[in-house]
Amino acid sequence: MNKPVNQPAHPLTLTLFPQAAQVAPDGHLHLGGLDTADLAAEFGTPLYVYDEATLRANCRTYRDALAAHYPAPAEAAYAAKAFLCTAMAQLAAEEALGLDVVSGGELHVALQAGFPAARIHFHGNNKSPTELAFALDARVGRIVVDNLYELETLARLAAERDVVAPIWLRLSPGVDAHTHAYRKTGLLDSKFGLSPATGDATQAVWQAMSSPHLALTGLHAHIGSHIFEHAPFLQTVAVLLDFATEMRSCDFELRELSTGGGLAVRYVQSDPPAPVEPYVQAISLAVVEGCQARGLPLPRLVLEPGRSIVGPAGVALYTVGARKEIPGVRTYVSVDGGMADNPRPALYGARYTAIVANKANLPPSETVTVAGKFCESGDVLIRDLSLPHAEPGDLLAVPVSGAYNLAMSSNYNQVPRPAAVLLGDGQARLILRRETYNDLTRRDRPL
Ligand code: LLP
Repeated sequence: MNKPVNQPAHPLTLTLFPQAAQVAPDGHLHLGGLDTADLAAEFGTPLYVYDEATLRANCRTYRDALAAHYPAPAEAAYAAKAFLCTAMAQLAAEEALGLDVVSGGELHVALQAGFPAARIHFHGNNKSPTELAFALDARVGRIVVDNLYELETLARLAAERDVVAPIWLRLSPGVDAHTHAYRKTGLLDSKFGLSPATGDATQAVWQAMSSPHLALTGLHAHIGSHIFEHAPFLQTVAVLLDFATEMRSCDFELRELSTGGGLAVRYVQSDPPAPVEPYVQAISLAVVEGCQARGLPLPRLVLEPGRSIVGPAGVALYTVGARKEIPGVRTYVSVDGGMADNPRPALYGARYTAIVANKANLPPSETVTVAGKFCESGDVLIRDLSLPHAEPGDLLAVPVSGAYNLAMSSNYNQVPRPAAVLLGDGQARLILRRETYNDLTRRDRPL
């Protein structure tokens, strides 16, 4: 194996890759000290590669920023929906994070992985009675109640079990975060949360406070995802604190405050950077100053990052197959994955970039459109990308692929879902095996 050098051919693009990404003299991209061509040969493609050092550093950045900027207890809870498997839950546990789960399935994976139930928060706008019972029986740390129906159901289930459910209320703060419409969750017109503006939130506090089987300790809001500006988060803090102040009249004491997740990441060079520390600092300061101004004691502060923990740590590796040149129109380069392992471009118009991982020392020589293998014209991963000449068998590496790709992947066209490996200590560990054709018929029952 060639020794990697610290002189990447495309320094700009390589900055989007995980820590320690390098290009070897033979032009091969190395991640975590390993040649991506070797990884593709060993595990096949499409392959999702996670860099352990980057993952752990991202967890630490949140922890350290909270410790540095928030003068009371605080916690970063990893939003499992961004990417969850047993190893990821274990890594989050080892990094002393909490965990935000949003379904019985996520809760199951977390518990199977040995994640401490007390550090789990259970979110969701339509948790079923079965899911709520599962959460109660598993003794999850907090159930984040989203609506009045859930509040009543939970109180009944807790009474049946003669337990007290530790809850937060999710508020709908009426804040517009500038992100894709499908990712906005803080508007008044949203399926999520109890609105202070409509009176639902106040009623929920009253009901929770009067139930012997509910212990209301905090308020939560999550206004959306992939948000660059701090202002909407700060507005949200103000709405939450105003509401908490109002609710003191019914003896509610704000002991915990969660502002959800939502920090953006840089997917392409033209995206602005979205550093974690200033974001954590801004929220911390808003809570400290906001509490001082309202005479509220400082609550325990909880953040729920998903994308900004796992997104930049993941790289998708694809093998190039067919090329189609339409003179004067466009050249399509098709890869062996696409919208089933990464639905984000088709769903949100999400933008990515890529390099040819086995020709990373060559300058770009053509502009191509990277298409997937699925039977839809909309299955395009990257439009108008400058690349060195990409031929069948070449390897394409797409950085910032760690969040909401595999998590939202499907078996569309009955294509088995990709494997994921974790790179650490110069080794690649399989953390999710590739699906097989047999997996595709495992649930089928013949006529
Ligand atoms: N907390 C709650 C209650 C959430 O609903 C979410 C994300 C998070 C935390 C984590 O947000 P993050 O830090 O990852 O932005 N599929 C979309 C993103 C949907 C996010 C859903 N909720 C995408 O691929 O862009």
